[in-house]
Amino acid sequence: MGLPPSVVSISKLLREHIEEIIAMLRSLNERWDTDRFDSADNLAKYLGAYQKRGFVARTEQGELAGFVLYCMGYVWPLDRKEFHPTADTGFISDIIVHPRHWRKGIGTQLMIEAEKELTKMGARRITLYTGPDNARAQAFFAGIGYRVSGRADSVGFEKVVPRENSESP
Ligand SMILES: CC(C)(COP(=O)(O)OP(=O)(O)OC[C@H]1O[C@@H](n2cnc3c(N)ncnc32)[C@H](O)[C@@H]1OP(=O)(O)O)[C@@H](O)C(=O)NCCC(=O)NCCS
Repeated sequence: MGLPPSVVSISKLLREHIEEIIAMLRSLNERWDTDRFDSADNLAKYLGAYQKRGFVARTEQGELAGFVLYCMGYVWPLDRKEFHPTADTGFISDIIVHPRHWRKGIGTQLMIEAEKELTKMGARRITLYTGPDNARAQAFFAGIGYRVSGRADSVGFEKVVPRENSESP
């Protein structure tokens, strides 16, 4: 699984990528999280808050293929989506790959980079949630080591990650 590095490049999400991400999201037929992604302005504000706390993936032709956003904290309970900042739990806020590029390993590569950063930031476990009908995402997260942590109007997932420098005494 996954692509050789020459086929996809991953870089930190910067302000200059925001317009491109909005254009990619607009080009999708299916809409995600219409409450947050309801207008270009709100979306730009939301993405702006994730500068340097996200990664973008590009094809070798330079086309934006997807992105991941992450932060420290967790959401619980799942039906009320309360966010709790913490020092030891990382949260994947969003991961979206353009349908044209599904099943090429890009989502996995984005998750690996986000998990590495969250681990550096002190995360011992990483959590996220997705829609109960999103079978594709559920199969994806289960396939990369996440287990279901709870179900309400969303399905929660979590993964325990090794402590950064866990080999140190
Ligand atoms: C979920 C998503 C990010 C996966 O991205 P992706 O780049 O296609 O994922 P990968 O190619 O790295 O897939 C890795 C593995 O996940 C599993 N997987 C991914 N899509 C799957 C599907 N539709 N059905 C079953 N398994 C799937 C497979 O095991 C796959 O490995 P394989 O292709 O070698 O069999 C992508 O489908 C997406 O953007 N969906 C829409 C947005 C969304 O739902 N985001 C998550 C909710 S927060």
